[in-house]
This record gives sequence, C-alpha cells and structure tokens, in this order.
Amino acid sequence: MFTFNISSNIYFGSGVSKDTGRIAADLGLEKVLCIYDPGIKAAGIADHIISSLEASGLTCSEYGAVIPNPDEASIEEAAEAARSTQVDGIVAVGGGSSIDTAKAVNILLTNPSPIRQYEGSDLVCHNTKPLIAIPTTAGTASEATDFTVVTDLVRKKKMVIHGKNCSADIALLDPVLTKKLPPNVTAFTGMDALTHAIEAFLSKAASPISDHHALKGISFIYQNLEQAVKNGDEVEVRSNMMLGSLFAGFAFNSAVLGLVHAIAHPLSAHCGLPHGLANAAVLPYVLSYNAGNASARKKYRQIAAAMGIETAQDSDEEAASRVIKAVAELCKKVKIPPLRETGVAKEDFETIAIDALNEHSFQFNPRKANVQDVMAILKQAY
Ligand SMILES: NC(=O)c1ccc[n+]([C@@H]2O[C@H](COP(=O)([O-])OP(=O)(O)OC[C@H]3O[C@@H](n4cnc5c(N)ncnc54)[C@H](O)[C@@H]3O)[C@@H](O)[C@H]2O)c1
Ligand SMILES: [Zn+2]
Repeated sequence: MFTFNISSNIYFGSGVSKDTGRIAADLGLEKVLCIYDPGIKAAGIADHIISSLEASGLTCSEYGAVIPNPDEASIEEAAEAARSTQVDGIVAVGGGSSIDTAKAVNILLTNPSPIRQYEGSDLVCHNTKPLIAIPTTAGTASEATDFTVVTDLVRKKKMVIHGKNCSADIALLDPVLTKKLPPNVTAFTGMDALTHAIEAFLSKAASPISDHHALKGISFIYQNLEQAVKNGDEVEVRSNMMLGSLFAGFAFNSAVLGLVHAIAHPLSAHCGLPHGLANAAVLPYVLSYNAGNASARKKYRQIAAAMGIETAQDSDEEAASRVIKAVAELCKKVKIPPLRETGVAKEDFETIAIDALNEHSFQFNPRKANVQDVMAILKQAY
C-alpha cells in the first residue's frame, strides 16, 4: 500500500510570474498580504509581483521581514500583520523561508496561535485561505509540498508541521526569477533539491510514483546544477533546475526523506547553517553509510543511470561508489565547504547526533543508525 499526493496547482514557465495578478483575481482575491524577505526586495522581485497584483486591481499589504530558518516569533509577527490588515489571501515570494513563513501565517489566520501546537501531521483543523507560492530558489519545493518548517529556539529544533492545510493552493514557478540567485545560494539550494530526490528514492516510504519523480529530479538537478552555479543567466538551465526541484518535491512530499535531513535540521537549529548547506555537507557521507545496507545499495544503480553514469559492468558495490564519488565531486565543483568551515564545533556532534535520531525523517532512512554512526558521519563531513 502507498499513498501519493500533490496539493498545489502548478503554473510553470518563463515569465509566468507576470500573471500573478490575474491568477489571484481568478481565485476571487481582492486584498492580499505579500510575504518575502529583504533579499527578495533587493533583487526587485517583490516589487515585480506587487505590480502585477496591483495591475489586476488587488490591494496589497506587505510583510518583508522574513528571516532564514524562520522561528516562532517571526511567524507570530507576520501573522499579526496579516490579521491587522484582514486579508483574504496570501502571496508568498521567495525561498523556502518566505514560503514556509507564509504557510504558517496562513494556518494562524484561521486557527489559534501558537504555531507549535501543530507540529506533527494533520493537526491543523480549520481550512486556510488561498495561498499563492512563488519560489525564487530551486530549492525546497515548499511551493508544492504539504510541509512547513518552523524553528523552535527554546528546544533548538526545527518543527515540521505537515498535512492538511499546510500547502499552497497555487505554485507559480517562473525560472526567470532565479536568474539573480547568487552562486553560493544556487549551490546550497540546488544541493537541497538533489538531497530531496535522492532521499525520497532511498526512503522506506518510496513508491513507484515517487520513484518516477525522484529519478526525474535527480537527472535534472545533477545535470544542471554546476552550470546554474557558473552561468546563472541561462534561463534554460534555471528552468531545468526548477523542474528538478519540483519533481523532487513531488517525490518527497509522499516518500518523505532520510538521515541527511535528520542531521541537517539539528545542524541548522544548533549552529545556524543554511538548510541546503547543512544537507550538502553530509550528503556524500550518508550515501556512503546507506550503501552499507544491501537492499538500499541495489537502488544506487538507478540513481547512477539518472545521473547519466554507466554501471552495466559494475557490481552493486562499484555502482554505489560511483554515485557517492559523483555526488562528492559535484559538492566540490559547486564549492560546498566542509563542516569545519561553517562554524560547527566538534563539541556539538553528540547533541546533533542525538537530535538527528529523534527527527521524523530518520524513520524513513533505509539503514538504521545509532549515535556513534551519526557522529562518525559528522566527523567525515568535518
Ligand atoms: N516546506 C518544505 O517542504 C521545505 C523543504 C525544504 C526546506 N524547507 C525550509 O526552507 C528554508 C530554506 O529555504 P531556502 O533554502 O530556499 O532559502 P531562503 O528562503 O532562506 O533564502 C536564502 C537567501 O537567498 C535569497 N534569495 C532567494 N531567492 C533569491 C533570488 N531569486 N535572487 C536573489 N536572492 C535570493 C534570500 O533573500 C535569502 O537571503 C529552511 O527553513 C528549510 O527548513 C522547507
Ligand atoms: Zn530540504
């Protein structure tokens, strides 16, 4: 038995963000809150979206103070902005931090605060208002998933809020918006998307449908990320990255993730690492660890094929090591720093390892691990 679900309607294409106003008006919206962060404003993207909304006759208020790895206080502040302006819908524009903030705000518009009570699955009872999500990274795929991630600063934990009423109604993907994404953010967010696809494919909850999307995601991302980092202006490459990220999102929305994300969440919560960097720094070493499980190892041959790597003459072990090597080389090419250069201290390893084993996504990892195993992975990634 398996389930597969995509909640958002997808609009995809170069220039489609110009239609934001028309799409919002078609939903019956008149007064919206536009949610973004200062980087999106500086890149001129927030103004571009607001112009489209206003040109279609909508009234826009703005919340432009989204923070990376958004915490509860920032969600509450943004929710207050939404309540005080009595909006009938939300437009999120930005990376995962902006879209997740918007999803959490939307929950709090029709459900009581605090947001922490919804950590877990299907705990948001009341229907939410229409939400349009416009991603500017490729990326988290938050525009198409039923997850929102909010940091609990007290427990130092990234809370995952999942299920009904946790998605955007419309995912509006315009690759042109990612042209100005700086190389390091392109690399981090692209490695996050690659991790989503690989972890969904190796997940215990994988299905034939999620596998199909995961392998498509791996192909698009692996074959375009280096170019996207080096030549960010090429719209076709950006478009392929955005498609890859979306396919990966389709896959992990149902298949969930694994040990890479289980380690990345405490790395961000304790040490403040950007989400994609935290994933990328440990991905090759978790892949190597998971290849120690014989049934997981058999699946690496299909990952290799999706990457364009020939393995017909190889044993399972050789095919797996080709995948691990290729991912490690990609990390080098797109300049993913080792953990020691990211502000993580070795003294943090034990806490991070203990927390990783309590992460929801760990349950779906194909190989069991203990604290020592995770500490060994962190040492390798250091
Ligand atoms: N909901 C989900 O399914 C899901 C999945 C994975 C990750 N996440 C969460 O998403 C967050 C990370 O999101 P992210 O990696 O997209 O990064 P982000 O949203 O934090 O953005 C990173 C930086 O890039 C800048 N930026 C984004 N797009 C830009 C553009 N086009 N041009 C110029 N600058 C741009 C932003 O201003 C910001 O400074 C984390 O909190 C993570 O936990 C959510
Ligand atoms: Zn992720």
